[in-house]
Amino acid sequence: MDSLVPQDTLEEAVALLKDGQVVAFPTETVYGLGADASNSDAVKKIYDIKSRPTNHPLIVHLANAEQVRLWVRDFPDNARKLAEAFWPGPLTMIMYKNGRVADEAVAGSTTVAIRVPNHPVALQLLEEFDGGLAGPSANKFGQVSPTSANHVKTDLGNNVAMVLDGGKCSVGIESTIIDMTSEVPEILRPGGITRSQIEDTLGIEVNVSSEISNRASGMTKSHYSPKANVILIEVTDLDDLEEKTKSASGIIAPISVEGFGFAWQMPQDAEAYSKSLYAVFREADERRLKTVYVIPPSEGEMLPAVVDRLTKASA
Ligand code: TXA
Ligand code: MG
Repeated sequence: MDSLVPQDTLEEAVALLKDGQVVAFPTETVYGLGADASNSDAVKKIYDIKSRPTNHPLIVHLANAEQVRLWVRDFPDNARKLAEAFWPGPLTMIMYKNGRVADEAVAGSTTVAIRVPNHPVALQLLEEFDGGLAGPSANKFGQVSPTSANHVKTDLGNNVAMVLDGGKCSVGIESTIIDMTSEVPEILRPGGITRSQIEDTLGIEVNVSSEISNRASGMTKSHYSPKANVILIEVTDLDDLEEKTKSASGIIAPISVEGFGFAWQMPQDAEAYSKSLYAVFREADERRLKTVYVIPPSEGEMLPAVVDRLTKASA
């Protein structure tokens, strides 16, 4: 269990946020770049720091489900059920917004994405702040999300007022995003909460947006990608690779492989695989590998989420 941050550190973070500054904070998925979601100027700083296009809306993080009604026009029954089952946790729900959220945070949309994160430091911060924190992943736009405080410092350095350290993220990839405004709820991004968990809770089938959909920015090409060229392969493709190609490349695979310049052996289970995937992508870049072959995990509930990120990283 991750520990809390000291009270004086917490108070400093809250004072900065109240002053409209940007503070990076840990969540169970990836680190977030937080600012007061009801303060337009504060939210604009997030876009600047990330070099993120202003038409990509942000997730609003709250301390608990009771606060949702302060931010939405309507909290649908199905959304309540999912909140009860999966919050705090890696599930983001899109609902119709009310006037409290800054227009910049939702990129002018009539909807707002909301999540209650499951990390003791995030919850400590949100409770003490007593408001909503707009928080995208704390990386430069289009790059790999940070799963440790050091990743954030490496990426954003002095551009953020403060980085709260909550250790390594336990999930390791971004939350599931589900649109609750459509007739049938629609999963826009797969993540730690799976389609079957959602369908079991609601007792109905939900839709899953197709690859071509571009409603969430994480759906665009080049997202989740390291600088290295990522090539997705199957175990059976290994035989076709030339020795020269192998020795000049890295490989990330859930089996032991030989002949590559550098190899990361990953777990077969998708949930365990996702915990270290982004840290491994960063190591590949530190080793200045131009090409990294990736073999996906073979089992586990989080397979669709991991395959989604790997497919985008290789796009
Ligand atoms: O796990 C996570 O979700 C992390 C942590 C920090 O909570 N956050 C995260 O934020 O991944 P970000 O900004 O990197 O990705 C949020 C995605 C974006 O693709 C954005 O376009 C989409 O959510 N999104 C946000 N609000 C939306 C809305 N109102 N309608 C549709 N998509 C929305
Ligand atoms: Mg992101």
